[in-house]
Amino acid sequence: MKFDSSVPVPIAVFASGGGTNLQALLDHEQTSGLYKVTTVVSDRKEAGALRRASVANRNTLVISNQGRSQDEIGEEIIRHLSSWDIQVIALAGYLRLIPSIVVHAYPKRILNIHPALLPDFGGEGMYGDRVHQAVLNVGVEVTGATVHYVDEEYDTGAILAQWPVPVLPGDDIKAISARVLKIEHLLYPAVTDHVCRAIKEGIEPEPFIVPSVDLESISDDEK
Ligand code: GRF
Repeated sequence: MKFDSSVPVPIAVFASGGGTNLQALLDHEQTSGLYKVTTVVSDRKEAGALRRASVANRNTLVISNQGRSQDEIGEEIIRHLSSWDIQVIALAGYLRLIPSIVVHAYPKRILNIHPALLPDFGGEGMYGDRVHQAVLNVGVEVTGATVHYVDEEYDTGAILAQWPVPVLPGDDIKAISARVLKIEHLLYPAVTDHVCRAIKEGIEPEPFIVPSVDLESISDDEK
Protein backbone atom coordinates (compact mmCIF):
# COMPACT_ATOMS: atom_id res chain seq x y z
CA MET A 1 0.00 0.00 0.00
CA LYS A 2 1.50 3.33 -1.06
CA PHE A 3 0.82 6.22 1.24
CA ASP A 4 1.90 9.88 1.23
CA SER A 5 3.01 10.53 4.83
CA SER A 6 2.58 14.32 4.49
CA VAL A 7 -1.24 14.01 4.46
CA PRO A 8 -3.60 12.80 7.21
CA VAL A 9 -3.78 8.99 7.33
CA PRO A 10 -7.01 7.86 5.58
CA ILE A 11 -8.99 5.67 7.94
CA ALA A 12 -12.23 3.68 7.67
CA VAL A 13 -14.55 3.32 10.64
CA PHE A 14 -16.69 0.16 10.81
CA ALA A 15 -19.86 0.48 12.91
CA SER A 16 -23.13 -1.42 13.31
CA GLY A 17 -24.88 0.96 15.69
CA GLY A 18 -25.43 4.58 16.61
CA GLY A 19 -21.86 5.66 16.07
CA THR A 20 -21.01 7.94 18.99
CA ASN A 21 -17.40 6.73 18.82
CA LEU A 22 -17.40 7.45 15.09
CA GLN A 23 -18.64 10.94 15.96
CA ALA A 24 -15.82 11.39 18.48
CA LEU A 25 -13.31 10.43 15.78
CA LEU A 26 -14.92 12.82 13.30
CA ASP A 27 -15.00 15.64 15.85
CA HIS A 28 -11.34 15.20 16.75
CA GLU A 29 -10.10 14.92 13.18
CA GLN A 30 -9.61 18.66 12.51
CA THR A 31 -7.67 19.26 15.72
CA SER A 32 -5.66 16.13 15.14
CA GLY A 33 -4.52 16.59 11.57
CA LEU A 34 -3.03 13.08 11.82
CA TYR A 35 -5.93 11.10 10.33
CA LYS A 36 -9.07 11.58 8.27
CA VAL A 37 -12.12 9.32 8.42
CA THR A 38 -12.73 9.02 4.70
CA THR A 39 -15.06 6.02 4.81
CA VAL A 40 -17.69 4.50 7.08
CA VAL A 41 -18.60 0.84 6.64
CA SER A 42 -21.59 -0.93 8.18
CA ASP A 43 -23.30 -4.30 7.98
CA ARG A 44 -26.66 -2.59 8.69
CA LYS A 45 -28.08 -0.09 6.24
CA GLU A 46 -30.14 1.52 9.02
CA ALA A 47 -27.13 2.10 11.32
CA GLY A 48 -27.05 5.57 12.86
CA ALA A 49 -23.34 5.65 12.09
CA LEU A 50 -24.13 5.81 8.36
CA ARG A 51 -26.31 8.87 8.93
CA ARG A 52 -23.47 10.55 10.81
CA ALA A 53 -21.15 9.71 7.90
CA SER A 54 -23.54 11.22 5.36
CA VAL A 55 -23.91 14.40 7.43
CA ALA A 56 -20.11 14.66 7.51
CA ASN A 57 -19.99 13.97 3.77
CA ARG A 58 -17.91 10.79 3.92
CA ASN A 59 -17.94 7.69 1.73
CA THR A 60 -20.29 5.02 3.02
CA LEU A 61 -20.44 1.33 2.29
CA VAL A 62 -22.94 -1.30 3.43
CA ILE A 63 -21.51 -4.81 3.43
CA SER A 64 -24.17 -7.45 3.36
CA ASN A 65 -23.16 -10.54 5.34
CA GLN A 66 -26.24 -12.66 4.60
CA GLY A 67 -25.52 -15.99 2.90
CA ARG A 68 -21.98 -15.07 1.91
CA SER A 69 -18.68 -16.68 2.79
CA GLN A 70 -16.15 -14.84 4.95
CA ASP A 71 -13.72 -14.80 1.99
CA GLU A 72 -16.33 -13.23 -0.28
CA ILE A 73 -17.11 -10.56 2.31
CA GLY A 74 -13.40 -10.00 2.93
CA GLU A 75 -12.63 -9.59 -0.77
CA GLU A 76 -15.35 -6.98 -1.10
CA ILE A 77 -14.01 -5.07 1.91
CA ILE A 78 -10.44 -5.15 0.62
CA ARG A 79 -11.48 -4.07 -2.89
CA HIS A 80 -13.29 -0.99 -1.59
CA LEU A 81 -10.76 -0.03 1.06
CA SER A 82 -7.89 -0.32 -1.42
CA SER A 83 -9.70 1.94 -3.87
CA TRP A 84 -9.92 4.60 -1.12
CA ASP A 85 -6.30 3.98 -0.02
CA ILE A 86 -7.41 3.19 3.54
CA GLN A 87 -4.43 2.65 5.89
CA VAL A 88 -6.21 2.01 9.19
CA ILE A 89 -9.55 0.41 10.09
CA ALA A 90 -11.15 1.49 13.37
CA LEU A 91 -13.96 -0.77 14.58
CA ALA A 92 -16.45 1.20 16.65
CA GLY A 93 -19.34 -1.02 17.68
CA TYR A 94 -19.00 -3.31 14.64
CA LEU A 95 -20.64 -6.59 15.59
CA ARG A 96 -19.25 -8.86 12.86
CA LEU A 97 -16.04 -10.80 12.88
CA ILE A 98 -13.49 -9.30 10.48
CA PRO A 99 -12.71 -11.89 7.77
CA SER A 100 -9.22 -13.34 8.14
CA ILE A 101 -8.13 -12.17 4.69
CA VAL A 102 -8.80 -8.59 5.84
CA VAL A 103 -6.90 -9.17 9.11
CA HIS A 104 -3.92 -10.38 7.07
CA ALA A 105 -4.17 -7.54 4.54
CA TYR A 106 -3.99 -4.92 7.35
CA PRO A 107 -1.49 -6.25 9.92
CA LYS A 108 -1.50 -4.05 13.07
CA ARG A 109 -3.70 -1.62 11.18
CA ILE A 110 -7.10 -2.70 12.55
CA LEU A 111 -8.17 -1.29 15.92
CA ASN A 112 -11.19 -1.98 18.10
CA ILE A 113 -12.60 -0.29 21.18
CA HIS A 114 -14.24 -2.41 23.86
CA PRO A 115 -16.19 -1.07 26.87
CA ALA A 116 -14.37 -3.04 29.58
CA LEU A 117 -10.85 -3.96 30.67
CA LEU A 118 -9.95 -6.89 28.41
CA PRO A 119 -9.21 -9.78 28.62
CA ASP A 120 -12.08 -9.75 31.13
CA PHE A 121 -15.64 -9.23 29.90
CA GLY A 122 -14.84 -9.83 26.23
CA GLY A 123 -15.47 -12.44 23.55
CA GLU A 124 -18.28 -13.43 21.22
CA GLY A 125 -21.62 -12.02 22.29
CA MET A 126 -20.06 -9.61 24.80
CA TYR A 127 -21.17 -6.23 23.54
CA GLY A 128 -23.28 -3.30 24.70
CA ASP A 129 -25.21 -3.71 27.94
CA ARG A 130 -24.20 -7.37 28.25
CA VAL A 131 -20.67 -6.25 29.07
CA HIS A 132 -21.78 -3.83 31.78
CA GLN A 133 -24.27 -6.36 33.19
CA ALA A 134 -21.43 -8.89 33.53
CA VAL A 135 -19.30 -6.26 35.27
CA LEU A 136 -22.14 -5.65 37.75
CA ASN A 137 -22.76 -9.38 38.25
CA VAL A 138 -19.13 -10.05 39.15
CA GLY A 139 -19.01 -7.00 41.39
CA VAL A 140 -15.62 -5.58 40.31
CA GLU A 141 -14.77 -2.10 41.54
CA VAL A 142 -13.04 -1.01 38.35
CA THR A 143 -14.10 -1.35 34.74
CA GLY A 144 -12.91 0.76 31.80
CA ALA A 145 -12.27 0.94 28.09
CA THR A 146 -9.72 -0.97 26.00
CA VAL A 147 -8.32 -0.29 22.54
CA HIS A 148 -6.68 -3.31 20.96
CA TYR A 149 -5.49 -4.62 17.62
CA VAL A 150 -7.93 -6.90 15.87
CA ASP A 151 -7.08 -10.51 15.13
CA GLU A 152 -9.25 -13.36 13.85
CA GLU A 153 -11.28 -13.75 17.05
CA TYR A 154 -13.45 -11.46 19.16
CA ASP A 155 -11.54 -9.17 21.55
CA THR A 156 -8.32 -11.20 21.75
CA GLY A 157 -5.82 -9.02 19.83
CA ALA A 158 -2.86 -7.29 21.49
CA ILE A 159 -3.89 -4.46 23.80
CA LEU A 160 -2.78 -0.94 22.87
CA ALA A 161 -4.36 1.09 25.67
CA GLN A 162 -6.64 0.75 28.68
CA TRP A 163 -8.36 3.47 30.65
CA PRO A 164 -9.80 2.39 34.02
CA VAL A 165 -13.18 3.70 35.16
CA PRO A 166 -14.57 3.19 38.70
CA VAL A 167 -17.75 1.24 39.37
CA LEU A 168 -19.54 3.18 42.10
CA PRO A 169 -21.97 1.94 44.76
CA GLY A 170 -25.51 2.02 43.42
CA ASP A 171 -24.40 1.96 39.76
CA ASP A 172 -26.78 0.40 37.27
CA ILE A 173 -26.04 -0.51 33.64
CA LYS A 174 -27.00 2.95 32.45
CA ALA A 175 -24.64 4.70 34.87
CA ILE A 176 -21.66 2.46 34.10
CA SER A 177 -22.22 2.55 30.37
CA ALA A 178 -22.42 6.38 30.36
CA ARG A 179 -19.25 6.70 32.46
CA VAL A 180 -17.31 4.28 30.24
CA LEU A 181 -18.61 5.80 27.00
CA LYS A 182 -17.42 9.24 28.09
CA ILE A 183 -13.91 7.78 28.41
CA GLU A 184 -14.18 5.89 25.11
CA HIS A 185 -14.80 9.20 23.36
CA LEU A 186 -11.49 10.53 24.71
CA LEU A 187 -9.49 7.34 24.40
CA TYR A 188 -10.30 6.27 20.84
CA PRO A 189 -9.32 9.54 19.11
CA ALA A 190 -6.17 9.76 21.26
CA VAL A 191 -5.07 6.21 20.42
CA THR A 192 -5.95 6.70 16.75
CA ASP A 193 -3.71 9.79 16.74
CA HIS A 194 -0.97 7.77 18.43
CA VAL A 195 -1.13 4.94 15.88
CA CYS A 196 -1.38 7.30 12.89
CA ARG A 197 1.57 9.38 14.12
CA ALA A 198 3.66 6.19 14.24
CA ILE A 199 2.49 5.18 10.76
CA LYS A 200 3.52 8.58 9.38
CA GLU A 201 6.93 8.19 11.03
CA GLY A 202 7.24 4.62 9.74
CA ILE A 203 7.67 3.16 13.24
CA GLU A 204 5.78 0.81 15.57
CA PRO A 205 3.66 2.72 18.10
CA GLU A 206 5.17 2.95 21.61
CA PRO A 207 2.87 1.85 24.45
CA PHE A 208 0.12 4.47 24.82
CA ILE A 209 0.10 6.32 28.16
CA VAL A 210 -3.40 7.18 29.32
CA PRO A 211 -3.60 10.83 30.44
CA SER A 212 -4.66 11.63 33.95
CA VAL A 213 -8.08 13.28 33.69
CA ASP A 214 -10.68 13.92 36.38
CA LEU A 215 -13.90 12.35 35.04
CA GLU A 216 -15.99 15.12 36.55
CA SER A 217 -13.95 17.75 34.71
CA ILE A 218 -15.09 16.48 31.29
CA SER A 219 -17.80 18.70 29.85
CA ASP A 220 -21.13 17.27 28.71
CA ASP A 221 -20.15 18.04 25.09
CA GLU A 222 -17.41 15.46 25.34
CA LYS A 223 -19.58 12.80 26.97
C1 GRF B 1 -19.05 1.15 22.37
O1 GRF B 1 -19.33 0.92 23.71
C2 GRF B 1 -17.82 0.39 21.96
O2 GRF B 1 -16.89 0.24 22.99
C3 GRF B 1 -18.35 -0.95 21.58
O3 GRF B 1 -19.59 -0.69 20.98
C4 GRF B 1 -20.12 0.53 21.45
C5 GRF B 1 -20.41 1.39 20.27
O4 GRF B 1 -21.10 2.55 20.63
N1 GRF B 1 -17.44 -1.70 20.77
P1 GRF B 1 -21.30 3.71 19.56
O5 GRF B 1 -22.09 3.12 18.40
O6 GRF B 1 -19.96 4.20 19.16
O7 GRF B 1 -22.11 4.74 20.30
